[in-house]
Amino acid sequence: MRSLREAFGQFATGVAVITTVTPEGTRAGVTVNSFTSVSLDPPLVLWCLSERAPSAPSFLRAGQFAINVLAAGQEHLSRRFATGAADKFAGVELLGTPLPLLAGTLAHFVCRTVRVHDGGDHHIFVGEVERYQRAEGDPLVFHAGRYRECMPELAIGRAS
Ligand SMILES: Cc1cc2nc3c(=O)[nH]c(=O)nc-3n(C[C@H](O)[C@H](O)[C@H](O)COP(=O)(O)O)c2cc1C
Repeated sequence: MRSLREAFGQFATGVAVITTVTPEGTRAGVTVNSFTSVSLDPPLVLWCLSERAPSAPSFLRAGQFAINVLAAGQEHLSRRFATGAADKFAGVELLGTPLPLLAGTLAHFVCRTVRVHDGGDHHIFVGEVERYQRAEGDPLVFHAGRYRECMPELAIGRAS
């Protein structure tokens, strides 16, 4: 299992925090690197959540979620939402309510859950993008269990 996890980890990804709020007003947020864009028309995305994650019932009930794509320098948010902290949102700057949107991200996508597939020990959430926003900046990158920085563009070999 560990060896397979390490082999999967060779695929470098960005990092996103998926947030939601239930009809009763309970907020949840989890760090993921399983976010993938699926389709442009209709605009669909997916991400995977462990069936054992304490926040899974909230995401299943909520029927909506927001994908917050983390920027370089937002490692602290990645760490915060990857723990079982009592109130992960304490002190975190938010742009929207009741669905929490994290400030300073590279993009966010507000989605309606259109399907939840069985994915082995994970739920696969498929969402339709209802609105989105993007900003300029470098991404937070995750590879082999560590946070990385993007390499600056190489000038060598480029025609001016
Ligand atoms: C970079 C990174 C990527 C992660 N990706 C996922 C993922 O795609 N799916 C998942 O279920 N957990 C993923 N996790 C672990 C969850 O963030 C972690 O289990 C979290 O505690 C779940 O939130 P909860 O305890 O409130 O349910 C990832 C953690 C890190 C640090």
